[in-house]
Amino acid sequence: MEVALILLAAGKGTRMQSDLPKVLHAVAHAPLLEHAMASGAALSPARTVVVAGHGADQVRTAVQAFDDEAQVVVQEEQLGTAHAVGQAREALAGFDGTAIVLYGDTPFVQTETLENMCAALETNDVVVLGFDAADPARYGRLVMQGDSLDRIVEYKDATDQERAITLCNSGVVACKSDLLFDLIDAVGNDNASEEYYLTDIIGIARERGLKATAVTCDEAETMGVNSRVDLAAADAAFQSRARAAMLEDGITLMAPETVYFARDTYIGRDTVIEPNVVFGPGVTIESGATIRAFSHLEGCHVARGGVIGPYARLRPGAELSEDVRIGNFVEVKNAQIAEGAKVNHLSYIGDATIGAKANIGAGTITCNYDGVMKHHTHIGANAFIGSNTMLVAPVHIGDGAMTGSGSVITSDVEADALALARAHQVEKPGMARKLLEMLKAKKAKQQRGS
Ligand code: UD1
Ligand code: MG
Repeated sequence: MEVALILLAAGKGTRMQSDLPKVLHAVAHAPLLEHAMASGAALSPARTVVVAGHGADQVRTAVQAFDDEAQVVVQEEQLGTAHAVGQAREALAGFDGTAIVLYGDTPFVQTETLENMCAALETNDVVVLGFDAADPARYGRLVMQGDSLDRIVEYKDATDQERAITLCNSGVVACKSDLLFDLIDAVGNDNASEEYYLTDIIGIARERGLKATAVTCDEAETMGVNSRVDLAAADAAFQSRARAAMLEDGITLMAPETVYFARDTYIGRDTVIEPNVVFGPGVTIESGATIRAFSHLEGCHVARGGVIGPYARLRPGAELSEDVRIGNFVEVKNAQIAEGAKVNHLSYIGDATIGAKANIGAGTITCNYDGVMKHHTHIGANAFIGSNTMLVAPVHIGDGAMTGSGSVITSDVEADALALARAHQVEKPGMARKLLEMLKAKKAKQQRGS
């Protein structure tokens, strides 16, 4: 059965105290909404519809950056969760499979849980995701009758007896798409909030003799974000799960609690991560690499055997081949560095290609920006760039070429040549001593005069 996702993301999120729509606040460098979309995306949905409202334009931009086939529909007024789902009706016209409703502010529902719901749908008409709440607070309560879900009652509308139920509604619902919209048509807003509750579809389905049930998951999966405190807690929860998963997959984390991962960080086995490393979005690291302490990586690729840091910064477009070394206080941006090349100390490499086994001396800078445009530097294989070389781009250093320390290289250097671009050394015998004596005499005269 084909699947379509409906993500509810119209809410304002007042308690975030923010100009940014709530679902765009980030956990592990990715918007909450992206986490929710990613767990659904693993089901290969035929269609994905995001129901936006507050900040809809910003939400659309973020959605399309993650999945350019996802549709964004706008719910102008937030009249309740059933009304929100109703906005997806046109986008799902002609779709004949299962619709799954997810919340954009609930990032951690696992793909496996959604698969369990789809399986339960084979013998039911509507399946709701429930969880046993440690503190049921204001969640909707699931009223079960044996294995069947009889109805859902919202906290505000519940009796004391119903409030005593600890099995709560996560908000995630799976139902055949056409049936879902049929049931929504029958939902009214005669309740304590005067909202169109999605939860009412269960009672309506049961009245029609249809079958409903609840699948349950761990409470951690249904964690929602309503405030900055929740956001920080969600990030902490994500990080501890990510660290545990990395350790499980054969990655050494010397001080796991000090390493910060992004949602999409990928690391191969036998890689060692030293303390205090930060991963931004879009990092892939192959097996057997070492990321030394206090390094910051984003949008980059490190191949097998690379040694990065300590105190290195890899920025977007840094592509490092096998056994590359990037040392302390080195920044690399938009640069391809070939096998075995070394940039070990205090350098900036931006908009560049570096050939295999080249050695870049301490303090080398690719001067890539002229104030208006960016220019490319090419350094050939086996080249040796002397310490404190300024490579004024665009510039091409041939294979096996050398530059003298302190050179400012403004023209191309052919293969195997040595380029020196610095003033000649001049030596004046005895001059240091004479100069010192002269200065001392001057100071003594000043002191006598004052
Ligand atoms: C909802 C459920 C409740 C459940 C709880 C779990 C209903 C009626 N109640 O309550 O049973 O225990 O979630 O967190 O469904 N939204 C829209 N448009 C709207 C209304 C809501 O997009 O018109 C979005 C919100 O942005 C949010 C989600 O739907 O992401 C849930 O809405 P919210 O108002 O938080 O519902 P709750 O009262 O928490
Ligand atoms: Mg809520």
